[in-house]
Formats: sequence, C-alpha cells, structure tokens
Amino acid sequence: MLLEELVNLKNETLNEIEKVEYESKKDLQEIRVKVFGKNGILTAMSKGMKDVEPQDRPKVGALINEVRNSIEQSLVEKENEFKAKELNEKLENEKIDITEPSKGSLKGAFHPISDVIDRMIDICVKMGFSVVEGPEIESDYYNFEAMNIPKNHPSRDMQDTFFINDNILLRSQTSAVQAREMEIQKPPFKIICPGKTYRNDSDSTHSPIFHQLEGLVIDENVSMADLKSMLMTLMKRLFGEDTTIRFRPSFFPFTEPSIEVDVSCPTCHGKGCNLCKGTGMLELLGAGIVNPKVLEMSGIDSKKYRGFAFGFGLDRTAMILNSIGNIKYLYKNDIRFLEQMK
Ligand code: DAH
Repeated sequence: MLLEELVNLKNETLNEIEKVEYESKKDLQEIRVKVFGKNGILTAMSKGMKDVEPQDRPKVGALINEVRNSIEQSLVEKENEFKAKELNEKLENEKIDITEPSKGSLKGAFHPISDVIDRMIDICVKMGFSVVEGPEIESDYYNFEAMNIPKNHPSRDMQDTFFINDNILLRSQTSAVQAREMEIQKPPFKIICPGKTYRNDSDSTHSPIFHQLEGLVIDENVSMADLKSMLMTLMKRLFGEDTTIRFRPSFFPFTEPSIEVDVSCPTCHGKGCNLCKGTGMLELLGAGIVNPKVLEMSGIDSKKYRGFAFGFGLDRTAMILNSIGNIKYLYKNDIRFLEQMK
C-alpha cells in the first residue's frame, strides 16, 4: 500500500515539476514545501516508517530515499534551467551598445583669467614679444628698489604686500620681472610677463591675489608714439575694432613720463552704462617711458637705449570682457559661474 503511494507520489510530483513554466517558477517552491516541508507528504510518509512491518522496512526505506532523490534532482534541474534563463534575460536587457553615439559629453571651458592670458599672449606674440616668467616669491630689491621705489618711498603704501621677512615678499607687481630681464637680456628686446601678484587689498574690485601682464620694450629709438600705437593695436584686437583709447598723465616711479590708459567701454561703446559707471571709458593699465634710472640700475646704457613699459590688470580685463560684477567670482570656484564661461 505504502509502496504504491510512494510510486504515485513520485510520478505525480515529477509530472507536476515537468509542467511548471518559467513564468510561474514560484510553483517549484510550493512543490518543494508540499513534498519535503514540515508537513510535507514525503515527510509524513517517512514518519510512518515506524508502523511498517520490520521485514518490509528496508524496502520501504530504500523506496523513500529513491523517491526523495529523484524529486529533489528534478526540482534542482528545473531550478537551474530557470536560473540560466533568468541570467540570459538579464544579460540581454543590460546589453550596452558601445557603438551608440553618446548623448553629449560635459564640455569644460577655460577660466576667464586663463582665457585673457591666452588671448593677450596670442596678440603680443604676433607683435614680436616673447613671453617670460618671474618668481612670485620675490626680493624687495626686484619688486621695489630696482623699480626706483626705495625703502620708505610713499608709493610703497599702495602696494602693501605679504612679507616673508624684511627682504622676501610676495611680488606686488609683475614689474619686478622688468629688472630681472634687463639684467639678462641683451637689447633690443620685447617681453611680456603674465602672472600672479599679491597685495593687502580686498573689495569688489580687489583681491589679495590677482593677475597682471607686464610688457617691456627696450630699443634705441622707442617713443611714446610707439607705446601708443602698440597699445592701440592690442586694445583693438582684444576688445574690437571700434575701441578707442585715452591717455591720462599719471605717476609711477619707474616710468617718466607716466600715463594711465583708458579704453572705450566694450559694452556701450562709449555711450555710458553700468559697467563704465556712465563714463563711457574704463581704466585699464599703467604705462610709460622707462625711467633712465631704472635702466642704469639694471645695467643698460641709458644714453644708448630707451624703453617703454606697460602693466595690465588681468582680472579687470577679464571682468570687462565677460561683464563680471565682482572680482570674488573669479576665485570662488563656483561651478555655476564657471559654467557660464563656455
Ligand atoms: N606696476 C604698476 C602697478 O602695479 C603698473 C604699471 C605701470 C606697470 C606703469 C608698468 C608701467 O610697466 O610702465 O600699479
């Protein structure tokens, strides 16, 4: 009787397992519970062994094992089949088409300061200037004294900087590079030097770290007219053909005569707007004819050679070119600001 039930259980269950479809694969678990669970059919039959006549027990026991094994094997085979199918389905769905064109990549942009430096270098190199660099940690001598700004000279007040000791400081102007170059270059020569400069200044148009571009031309017959035409060309290339420039007399210890240079506002073209505070013009740089004293201090014969020099504020130039209202934006690293520079 029990033997027959066992054979029936085996055949029915194998049949049932065979019929389970992938879509209803949960049924396998139900079959497993129904047969092998705590209250499962085979579990109950195994428990019934104690009522079997002792001489029949080995036979019944062997059949129970056989039924258990074949149902278990059939279940595992079916489960494996479904697992393989599931994996294939997953792989199929997650397939990446590496030949598909991308949806557009993130495009970076140059920082406005780097952009201005690049543009200036480009323009100046085409006019025959070569690009030099100087140290940001500078000596008092090159930053001030060689620029005809002796100790205790009142013009040092405007360039209060960060001192490392009495003689070493963070350069307050790229003009320091003028003296360094005059000591090593043989005239005639034309150099520009872009770079970082430092001062004890901080407001909406001043930052303790800022950038300048220095220019120096040393030759036998340079004049204010050369300076003017060179600057005119530079400004037009930088701000546009309709740019006009204005010279105003000024004072710098290292140039004589000295001038400050304004450009017509590139936003309103001289009519007056917010950027130029209604004046139509923007102050942009200092320049002049190199003071003979400066030439002599650096070993250049001032009877034979003359020079002109100029110094741009690059932060200001970048702000004008990009209509940036506060210098702090240039140093905040705010991605929302930088994104607008594309
Ligand atoms: N170094 C000056 C400053 O930082 C700017 C300057 C003025 C540079 C006149 C020059 C120059 O080369 O000739 O204020």
